[in-house]
Amino acid sequence: MTLTIAEMATFCKKKGFVYPNSEIYGGISGFWDYGHLGSELKNNLKQEWWKFHVHSREDIVGIDGAIITHPKVWVASGHVESFADIMLECTKCSERYRGDQLIEEALKISVDGMKAAEINRLVKENRIVCKNCGSALSEASSFNLMFSTEIGPAGGLRSYLRPETAQLIFANFKLVTEHARLKLPFGIAQVGKAFRNEISPRDFLFRCREFEQMEIEYFIHPKQSDECPYLKELEELEVNVYSAEMQEKNKPHGKMKLKEAVKKGVIKTPWHAYFLGLEISWFASLGCNKENLRIRQHLQTEKSHYALDTWDLEYKFPFGWKELLGMANRTDFDLSAHMKHSKKDLSIFDEDTKEKVVPHVVCEPSLGVDRAFLVFLFDAYNYDETRGNVVLKLHPRLAPIKVGIFPLVNKVEGEARKVYDSLKKSFHCFYDKSGSIGRRYARADEIGIPYCITIDFDTLEDQSVTIRDRDTTEQVRVKIRELPEKIEGLLKGKPSK
Ligand code: GAP
Repeated sequence: MTLTIAEMATFCKKKGFVYPNSEIYGGISGFWDYGHLGSELKNNLKQEWWKFHVHSREDIVGIDGAIITHPKVWVASGHVESFADIMLECTKCSERYRGDQLIEEALKISVDGMKAAEINRLVKENRIVCKNCGSALSEASSFNLMFSTEIGPAGGLRSYLRPETAQLIFANFKLVTEHARLKLPFGIAQVGKAFRNEISPRDFLFRCREFEQMEIEYFIHPKQSDECPYLKELEELEVNVYSAEMQEKNKPHGKMKLKEAVKKGVIKTPWHAYFLGLEISWFASLGCNKENLRIRQHLQTEKSHYALDTWDLEYKFPFGWKELLGMANRTDFDLSAHMKHSKKDLSIFDEDTKEKVVPHVVCEPSLGVDRAFLVFLFDAYNYDETRGNVVLKLHPRLAPIKVGIFPLVNKVEGEARKVYDSLKKSFHCFYDKSGSIGRRYARADEIGIPYCITIDFDTLEDQSVTIRDRDTTEQVRVKIRELPEKIEGLLKGKPSK
């Protein structure tokens, strides 16, 4: 069963995953708060990402930079000048529209990267008016998406809330490289908040004004973009590919192995193919169905100001295939720009070639935490007709609560409490004694608890309990003393789809 995005927002609110921000004051568009289950799921997701991309590799280290930084960072990166969307305003009711979204909705065409003049022409030719009151729209103008703020008392230094985490990696590049003794090729990762004053935030968590990113800048020697030692691990992976050429020829996306995509020149560098494959593998390892993912190349017109080649990892949302992760080849754009503006040398010595080089970012996997959160929820959501309730089949490692503990009758409460007290030190557990056992299982299914333990009369005799699997409803009998090891194994060993 597929939910609409509005139904997903309702489900998330009802179950304590996500709430509209400051709802008691009427809410504020583009801001969301994560509830008692949402915050756990989001933390698990970020931890899994960090373990996979940083801890399990020798070539990537992480940092945690500040949200507000020197304004010159944003001048050097080009954000002050060109991090903008095209906006149109109603001449009567002042409703504001993002140009590309307005045209896309009205004419059902893709307008990625379209310039203001072209949008003005289409608005005039097709008599597109304000959706709110039907009045004429203003000429399209450019609207910078950065939130500005003042540092210190009135008249202080004007800066911005970071619109991406990436620039902190470039600004700290020299220090991190030296202190972590990094050798090319290597990556620097970061997870954290980003802020964009979106003209029209929408689709729940998909487009917000405050969100989080998980980003890696992967640096290589400029002459080694064809030498990726890791592609071998993933070259047989078959993925849904939607190249710029397929889009221009109005063809649907097709399946291709990564090695084939590189060989045919569809994906320009083996590094890009490798990281795209890596991201798909990460999603699949946490239970996401690969058929709902595809990689799409940016058209020439939609590439960012800094990018040589960009691919998006897209997900089949209920409102269409949309960007989940962006992966640009940023070359030396950022390091060179920061060298020019800071007048500091950010080049490094490459021991293999004995050359001093400004490394190139061959690709930058940049994933939105909130979008990934949505993807895992959509993929996990099932309505089970037989059970008559929702079963949220989240991967056990992502599940906000790992174990439900239910005494079958009041008389075994003491024993059930003991089980809860011993397990809660290692796993996030939930103790529930209210209602019928069927109702308790249903409540646990709906919030994705993968394993529920029932304590019954027999427990008092044989010191064993029943573990029920959320997805299959199968039950096994286990000795209490074996529970920690058993649950640990179950949480680790869930196979991917
Ligand atoms: N450093 C590169 C960069 O920021 P981006 O494509 O603008 O690239 C990367 O953003 C990812 O951040 C997107 O793929 C998306 O997952 C997430 N993202 C961007 N804007 C967002 C927004 N307004 N709301 C939620 N997530 C957003």
